[in-house]
Amino acid sequence: MGLFREFLDRESPQGRLIAIGGRSLVNFASNDYLGLAASGTLIQAAQSATAEFGAGGGAARLLAGGAVLHGELERAAASFMGAPAALLFNSGYHANAGAIPAIAGHGDAIFSDELNHASIIDGCRLSKAETFIYRHADASHARQLLEKSGARRKLIITESVFSMDGDLAPLDGLHELAASSGAMLYVDEAHAIGVLGGGRGGLRHFGLTPGAHVVQMGTFSKALGSYGAFIAAGTDAAGWLRNAARTFIFSTALPPGPVGASLAALKLIGSDAGAALMARLWENREMLFEGLRKAGFETGPTRTPVIPVLFDGVGDALRASHGLREAGFYAPAIRPPTVMRPRLRLQVSAAHTRADTESLLEAMKKLHK
Ligand SMILES: Cc1ncc(COP(=O)(O)O)c(C=O)c1O
Repeated sequence: MGLFREFLDRESPQGRLIAIGGRSLVNFASNDYLGLAASGTLIQAAQSATAEFGAGGGAARLLAGGAVLHGELERAAASFMGAPAALLFNSGYHANAGAIPAIAGHGDAIFSDELNHASIIDGCRLSKAETFIYRHADASHARQLLEKSGARRKLIITESVFSMDGDLAPLDGLHELAASSGAMLYVDEAHAIGVLGGGRGGLRHFGLTPGAHVVQMGTFSKALGSYGAFIAAGTDAAGWLRNAARTFIFSTALPPGPVGASLAALKLIGSDAGAALMARLWENREMLFEGLRKAGFETGPTRTPVIPVLFDGVGDALRASHGLREAGFYAPAIRPPTVMRPRLRLQVSAAHTRADTESLLEAMKKLHK
């Protein structure tokens, strides 16, 4: 059926150009939105953290796994996000799979967007809370479901930038709903950190900050070019997660290398150089989005550098992806069951040149014919 998953490994670092199968391809497939994954600054920071603290974590954080660098990254993340506290997790997946069941349990109710990421779905399943799925990005449907629920504790969970469609959650409406109904709001900012709100994510874009009733999950693995994740929240919530999130307690701490790289990345996105990269990312995004729109491609409700090009059949998406590879671009097809409609998910980066975007558009137009 054309649905069996296979992958091709790179023979080069992540970046604007990647080598695959002995060919150099312009990369429209990675979440390295700011082109930081192979930046000299991050590599150097990872190298010096590794030289100072070693290659491996060696133990869970609660045992001997954390270096002073881990605490430094938590303070830096909390301060950058404007939150009282932050706790590191080994990945976004660990964060969602661990924090959600630590916050909501038997007798509680979770209200989850129908397009939330697999790691959120798994966190909900592990929680044993009753989970209600509201229609995508529909705060009034979430309100209807919330008003019907007599649960002791209520948790609303959404991505801020949806990873497969690139649209935004109505965080203003969901925040208002949470505040007026005594619910907690949990926002997965994996695709918004380093992209929106001056790099601080969707909450900041809507003028909101993480705190006692607003939990922010952010990753270092996408725009920040490194690896790992954080939960930014109130001091009590962070302390509770340290004691109750099983993926935090029972897994070896992040190795020092990525922690050092993440610290350097946070510093960078808070600087003028970071602001310039974000401006570049958005210029590239507008150019590709407008070009695709004018050429008549169906791009769904995207408002961010995640640009899906939708196809009706799996075969069409696979043919488009192969056609682009022949033309020198890497953009694998994303198919059911990951998404309902097959697509090319074009990931824009600040590292792309105008010529990259122009020639991708030319190649896309040829596919269309
Ligand atoms: C919305 C969302 N949440 C969480 C994750 C998981 O993050 P990580 O790759 O750091 O495990 C991803 C990445 O695939 C994602 O897209």
